[in-house]
Amino acid sequence: MGWFEDRGGLAGTVAIISGGAGGIGGAVTTDLAANGVRLAVIDIDGPAVEALRATLKEQGADAIVHHGDARDPEELARLFTAVDEAWGRLDTLVNVVGGTFRAPFVETRPKGWDALIRQNLTHILHTCSLAVPRMQAGGRGGSIVNLTTVEAHRAAPGFAVYAAAKAAVEQFGRTLAVEVAPSGIRVNNVAPDYTPTPNMQKMSGGGDNAYSTPVGVRVGIPMGRPGDVTDVSGCVVFLASALSTYVTGTTLHPDGGTYASSGWLNWPGVGWSNHAPAHVLAAVDPATGRPVALGDE
Ligand SMILES: NC(=O)c1ccc[n+]([C@@H]2O[C@H](COP(=O)([O-])OP(=O)(O)OC[C@H]3O[C@@H](n4cnc5c(N)ncnc54)[C@H](O)[C@@H]3O)[C@@H](O)[C@H]2O)c1
Repeated sequence: MGWFEDRGGLAGTVAIISGGAGGIGGAVTTDLAANGVRLAVIDIDGPAVEALRATLKEQGADAIVHHGDARDPEELARLFTAVDEAWGRLDTLVNVVGGTFRAPFVETRPKGWDALIRQNLTHILHTCSLAVPRMQAGGRGGSIVNLTTVEAHRAAPGFAVYAAAKAAVEQFGRTLAVEVAPSGIRVNNVAPDYTPTPNMQKMSGGGDNAYSTPVGVRVGIPMGRPGDVTDVSGCVVFLASALSTYVTGTTLHPDGGTYASSGWLNWPGVGWSNHAPAHVLAAVDPATGRPVALGDE
């Protein structure tokens, strides 16, 4: 065993991952399994669950994979009970499930708000309330990691309720971290920005989708490339591991620098600016406020 595996101390530990069969969650599952972690996953995507079961079986991994909805407290309770029965310990909880849709706030309705809050906040309260007593009973501490977003840290026009729910997760995590710190349980958040995943691609309609071009990516993301799911899962592995034993109540930002740059863009031929350059504004018709190139239609 090398320094990294030895100091990380993940082999033989037990992790529960909500949304662990696809997207960022799939990378988290893969990377924790590669470090010898025993996994329990709940995911709503049937085909992705089947594929994950097949992969883990092929690898001979010790795993429980439930097909279910993490928003349902009874399904969560069933998963935690299965973990109790199989392994009798819980070391790590990773809350990946989340998601959104784009709409100006005034065009949204309470049904949509409730859906966003359930998808991004409420299930985390349930999983944490199931995980903390088990970690405390185990007496070995534990690590809880919540997937949030850069939009929890800045304004996000078109995503008001998602941003609010994710900011609530940030603050919940920070507060829980302090409450459970005496038990050696750590709670942290991981806040990605643009990280293409199959489901995200499906909902990325609307807006100008500037990140669909390499130039747009270079303007908007200081590191000049989109995130990869492994950029995010690497942070989760670190926070699950004993390499972060004194890290709690905080947030890692695998975002290529967008949180740091907040509003500063790297305009071609101009460089960093926190406002639109003159040549961009010159292409706007002052009478209509529309780009001249688009004409009047
Ligand atoms: N991808 C990004 O660019 C990005 C950026 C910032 C934040 N995030 C956050 O990261 C997390 C993961 O993002 P993603 O793009 O991988 O999402 P995703 O839509 O691909 O979902 C990840 C997994 O969760 C599963 N899932 C979704 N809803 C579920 C439910 N109710 N119950 C059980 N499983 C469910 C999906 O089937 C999928 O396998 C989310 O919380 C998201 O808000 C993503």
